Amino acid sequence: MHSRKEQKGTDVFGRTDSYQDPTFLTTYLDTVDSLLPIRESKQRLYNLLDPQAGELIIDLGCGIGTTVREMALRTNKSTRFFGIDNSQTMINKAEESTPEDLVSSGIISFLKQDANNLRFGDETFDAAYADRLFQHLANPKQVIREIVRVLKPGGRLIIADSCWEDLRIEGISEEASGVIRKTLLSIIENPLLAKFVWELMIQEGIKQESVTVEKIKLKFKGLKSSEAVLKIKEALKIGCDSGAISIEEMNMTLREIKNANPDDITTFLDFYLTRGEK
Ligand SMILES: C[S@@+](CC[C@H](N)C(=O)[O-])C[C@H]1O[C@@H](n2cnc3c(N)ncnc32)[C@H](O)[C@@H]1O
Repeated sequence: MHSRKEQKGTDVFGRTDSYQDPTFLTTYLDTVDSLLPIRESKQRLYNLLDPQAGELIIDLGCGIGTTVREMALRTNKSTRFFGIDNSQTMINKAEESTPEDLVSSGIISFLKQDANNLRFGDETFDAAYADRLFQHLANPKQVIREIVRVLKPGGRLIIADSCWEDLRIEGISEEASGVIRKTLLSIIENPLLAKFVWELMIQEGIKQESVTVEKIKLKFKGLKSSEAVLKIKEALKIGCDSGAISIEEMNMTLREIKNANPDDITTFLDFYLTRGEK
């Protein structure tokens, strides 16, 4: 209902390894993960997950491993984390960026796996989370089904994701801000799913009474931080090539960005943290 049947191929994180320049995507995550609003959202995710000593925890779509590393460093050493991603580029970068002892001691294991088809037995994990994975999935329902399968009874699931519906950029015209919003709504596979993912969680076996939804507004101040999170030029190019926006709209928007006062630009993006138990 909330996902499209055919993958359009415009969502770069839905096909990381076949993207023309996968290191562009690892560098993107490295930069974005250091931005204050993203750090605050990860802190909130950590609090909601509340990892306990001795637990087995899975991070789905772990990317370069920033979240799972930070979780592991703050949690009792007896807790075991598994970071999975379907991109070998991401897994390699995650391993490279992780202190050797966290991997050799088995505290964190990075594995190349598709979240649609997890190679773990039923009822393996105490908790699972996915940080900005679901917006990129062609079949989110199947992935939730897989997560619920590998969770123990009572296991926690947290899905943290952006909802692009009300994306707004101040410091440029409403028209130019609208072109960027229209572009991202078109090129991201599931731009609104974050808002509705609780429904899929309940349909796939998460207890209705356990579900909570928290919405926070991420605020990226200045052109540099807005550019880091939106990659405006690259996104507009994909939007234009796929026919989502016209070349005139792209050029008008790029002109406005170029002429704007960088300090006046602020990006507002809704972010949802949805938690539930099996
Ligand atoms: C936007 S990144 C988020 C990375 C990380 N969770 C973070 O918060 O920095 C999305 C990640 O999901 C991965 N991904 C996309 N589809 C996937 C799938 N079907 N199974 C596993 N990983 C997937 C991508 O390769 C990418 O690393």
